[in-house]
Amino acid sequence: MKVLGIETSCDETGIAIYDSQKGLLAHQLYSQVKLHADYGGVVPELASRDHVRKIVPLIQATLTQANVSNKDIDGIAFTRGPGLIGALLVGSSLARALAYAWDVPALGVHHMEGHLLAPMLDENKPSFPFVALLVSGGHSMLVEVKAIGDYTVLGESVDDAAGEAFDKTAKLLGLDYPGGPLLAKLAEKGKAGHYKFPRPMTDRPGLDMSFSGLKTFVANTIRKEDKDEQTQANIAYAFQEAVVDTLLIKCRRALKQTGLKRIVMAGGVAANKKLRDEFAKASIKDGFDVFYPSFEYCTDNGAMIAYAGCQRLLANERTPLDSKVLPRWPLDTLTRV
Ligand code: KG4
Ligand code: ZN
Repeated sequence: MKVLGIETSCDETGIAIYDSQKGLLAHQLYSQVKLHADYGGVVPELASRDHVRKIVPLIQATLTQANVSNKDIDGIAFTRGPGLIGALLVGSSLARALAYAWDVPALGVHHMEGHLLAPMLDENKPSFPFVALLVSGGHSMLVEVKAIGDYTVLGESVDDAAGEAFDKTAKLLGLDYPGGPLLAKLAEKGKAGHYKFPRPMTDRPGLDMSFSGLKTFVANTIRKEDKDEQTQANIAYAFQEAVVDTLLIKCRRALKQTGLKRIVMAGGVAANKKLRDEFAKASIKDGFDVFYPSFEYCTDNGAMIAYAGCQRLLANERTPLDSKVLPRWPLDTLTRV
């Protein structure tokens, strides 16, 4: 089965074709980062308009790259939610129109399920069950995953998501949007031991997370300190260290609570090198396995949507063509495949 995947939940237009026999045939990504940079964050209306401009040429380019025609496509997967309503409507409207025109089934994918299954695009796939750490710009979640669609949310951010905290702290340090990767780069020049920031919600039981207090703590430090590059790099280092340490403490707790020995990390922040390095060290020390998607499938992309949609289409699931998008869609309401 060949599935066309369409991702438009935020500021990336991602298109891919996944073949259940041969794997990923092609994928194309258009990032709107430059469009939103002047505003310091995603402007929803501009995002929707840019998806409209880019989506059809990207689908054509993806079909060409895969060397297939629309007649070869057996199903269309699109991001149904969660995300920005206007942006979701662009992808879902086109996906459902194409499904009607090409007479193939459509499947609305949960964006976070896409992230969660992204490591399955790799040769070295994790097997079920596992604990998933989903850390993106909009969400931070720990999920017990028994099978595709069998998700128990163990904990989540009560305020800012991890990626959002990276972006907001980066902005305070004068970095461009989205600041997560730029802050990580600045932190590479930073030295350890100059600052010690809090590890939020680790002094009490539970798996929920909170990063807004950490951001405020860092903001107060930035205000008081010198503005030279080394000081800023030291602050970035300590901030990144605090986030990584907090996520590691929570993941260790989740493994203990579930009795599992496997962690799958996904979402934009899973591209963070420090996070990967510290988890790699901890996995050797504690004896658990850790999996991540390759860098290009950590952040938003069409491949993860094509893959997740393909699994559900293969199980005969369908999304009716008159269905609505779901800008808010709890992950644990999905059904097991
Ligand atoms: O998953 P994603 O592409 O979009 C959402 O679904 O939100 O995640 C984007 C987030 C942004 O907050 C971005 O700053 C963060 O992931 N991010 C990083 C890194 N690369 C992307 N944060 C820290 N270090 C990175 N290397
Ligand atoms: Zn995402």
